Amino acid sequence: MTTLTVNGCSRTLDLDPRESLLDVLRERLGLTGTKKGCDQGACGACTVHLDGRRVLSCLTLAIRCDGKEIRTIEGIAHDGVLHPLQSAMIEQDGLQCGYCTPGQIMSGIALLDEGHAESRDQIREWMSGNLCRCGAYNCILEAIERARDESRDAAS
Ligand code: FES
Repeated sequence: MTTLTVNGCSRTLDLDPRESLLDVLRERLGLTGTKKGCDQGACGACTVHLDGRRVLSCLTLAIRCDGKEIRTIEGIAHDGVLHPLQSAMIEQDGLQCGYCTPGQIMSGIALLDEGHAESRDQIREWMSGNLCRCGAYNCILEAIERARDESRDAAS
């Protein structure tokens, strides 16, 4: 048996050793906010946080997550209040079809937490694993800058 803590809830599951974390989240736990794009590590749509670090859930075996903390897009807002990056994505029109958006947000939050959002070039580099077929890159970048600036203003 494998125990995963997903968005603060402990879940014990009998897993096939070949199951990806992405498939377990979507098909066993019903957390379909995490998207399957390429299923081979190329698009970033499946990005989640594992013990606070971003990972591609399509390339992560679920049994390797035994005892670990997983956070998905469903666990980002608190008590109905959106994370600042979620709000900024809305304000800056950082999406069109929305398919890549959960992965963009999970990567963006990690990048903000890591301190890798100091410049536009740095944001572009650290977000380069998240593809957007609609081409909303500039608006996504502006949303990350906005969330970064708002968190700085709140802290000062
Ligand atoms: Fe995992 Fe594309 S679905 S990187």
